[in-house]
Amino acid sequence: MIGVYDSGFGGLSVLGPCMQALPHHSFVYLGDSGRAPYGGRSPDTLLDFAEQAVERLLEEGCSLVIVACHTVSCVALRHLQQRYAASDSPRRILGVTIPGAELAVQRSAGHIGILATERTVRSSTYLTEIAKLGPHRVTQRAAPLLAPLVEEGWEGTEIARLAVDRYLADLPGIDTLLLGCTHYPLLLPVLQRSVPSGVHVLDPAPYVAEALVSWISRHPRFAPSDPASTAGSLRVLCTGDPARFATHGARFLGRALPTVEHIAEVNGRLAHQPLAAPTGQIVR
Ligand code: DGL
Repeated sequence: MIGVYDSGFGGLSVLGPCMQALPHHSFVYLGDSGRAPYGGRSPDTLLDFAEQAVERLLEEGCSLVIVACHTVSCVALRHLQQRYAASDSPRRILGVTIPGAELAVQRSAGHIGILATERTVRSSTYLTEIAKLGPHRVTQRAAPLLAPLVEEGWEGTEIARLAVDRYLADLPGIDTLLLGCTHYPLLLPVLQRSVPSGVHVLDPAPYVAEALVSWISRHPRFAPSDPASTAGSLRVLCTGDPARFATHGARFLGRALPTVEHIAEVNGRLAHQPLAAPTGQIVR
């Protein structure tokens, strides 16, 4: 079973292409929507949230976890791999940053622009990964207004266009724009209209799915034992409000979600098991 983790709805834009590419696999999606946005949070808080989410997905029976959130991939992936998926462990944890960097380097003629959250930009992880692959120039711009605009469903509005124009003005001379946040694919129409002609706008999600298929072909123990007779399935878990998650999530996945299950948060930790309904008399 493959777990996919994001700060909220955005990672559903990564889950969709992964499910399409791997129709015989079972997926569990965990969106930490009750504690999103992650983009302005401190590295320590992100490590804590990411540990809790990964532990929950492992408990659900996932042997492979995809960290779909760019912010968590940039800040916490190495830590999560060392802690939960050391080389002698049967589990693996993969992120989106290396596929994103590979895609940008493949497509760029030399100057890559990146829009991402504040924490992703400050981590410099994309700069490091791209530098390993080629001599490209990289200009990053934190775009903290964009994820909330998309969450509000305002991606087609004049406000979104103005915000996008303002951020793009800080990325002069780029030939390729990498979307370094799972929310931004919903802004593709406005971004494509706003970038100067000739600039390629890259949503890394389809490439992440391709990279996952290739990775599984090289690690066949993560493939279903009898794919021909295995139908894929999806469970969706979220912190926050499951009804809101189902409504907004459908925009990111491109279709209706199955029943969204709620994960309770108790004293700042994700509950490990569904909480039993309280019994007995309440004495006031
Ligand atoms: N999902 C996060 C990412 O891809 C962005 C949204 C947030 O700030 O939580 O970086």
